[in-house]
Amino acid sequence: MKLFSSVNDVKDVPALVAEALQLKQNPYAHQHLGKNKTLSLVFLNPSLRTRMSTQKAAMNLGMNVIVLNIDKEGWALELRDNVIMNGTTVEHIREAAGVMGEYSDIIGVRSFPGLKDREEDYSETIFNKFVEFCKVPVVSLESATRHPLQSLADLVTIEELKTKARPKVVLTWAPHIKALPQAVPNSFAEWMCRADVDFTITHPAGYELCTDFTKGAAITHNQGEALKDADFVYVKNWSAYEPYGAVTGGNEDWMLTNAKMDTLAPAAKVMHCLPVRRDLELSSEILDGPRSVVIHEAGNRVWAAQAVLKQMLETL
Ligand code: CP
Repeated sequence: MKLFSSVNDVKDVPALVAEALQLKQNPYAHQHLGKNKTLSLVFLNPSLRTRMSTQKAAMNLGMNVIVLNIDKEGWALELRDNVIMNGTTVEHIREAAGVMGEYSDIIGVRSFPGLKDREEDYSETIFNKFVEFCKVPVVSLESATRHPLQSLADLVTIEELKTKARPKVVLTWAPHIKALPQAVPNSFAEWMCRADVDFTITHPAGYELCTDFTKGAAITHNQGEALKDADFVYVKNWSAYEPYGAVTGGNEDWMLTNAKMDTLAPAAKVMHCLPVRRDLELSSEILDGPRSVVIHEAGNRVWAAQAVLKQMLETL
């Protein structure tokens, strides 16, 4: 594997999930693969889980790791072509990415969307420039439109905890006070549409995701109908795709509570990628109760990242 930016970069999804679960059982079996190899993790935005889990995964494989918070510690990057750099930017992404490639065998990049210009975000300009100019294999640590390491960890979690061959999985929109990207729900939808699950998306009117990511999913504005008899409920806020980045306000009653779950899906496990705003996006009673698998899910980020890095190391 030379690029991990979406489910479309994976030849065999069930095999990758199985590999992650094998690595969970035997984390240090492939340390020879990473010996004298360097992973550079480049962050243009904050992170806790992606940063730590990917670093841990690389160390399990025997790799050296460099972490660069380029937004805080690097030179101000110019991302546009054909501009005279007489403003605040100091280094062009062409040189910056090229130089990072000289120091790295694999690069991971996190670059969030601006949520202002949909065409620019959905063309993945920044992530694609890293891929083009660094000339080494690249892993997405969350880009403008997708978060594939998160989605792989989510699928690993479902595979591990499911109690029936084809579980019902529901992605539900949740309230928030800020405009959040669509990367996590886009990516989750895209992976679930490729997995052997019965998949439903529910959100208030106005929060339709881009249909490129939801082909094959059932979609409803009726949260109660969607939640009925769910085995897994994936909670996430996102801002509107049209008008792009909008937050309409209201819909506070979309937050999951135990009362809602007791009535509609008493046996369901509740997932969230984290970070989560308690009692705004998801109730404390669920997060602190037996339904929540969010910590287990975050733990699986290590094995997802390790499976991807292992496949990349095998092709170096
Ligand atoms: N879920 C996730 O990607 O968490 P971080 O933003 O903390 O990395």
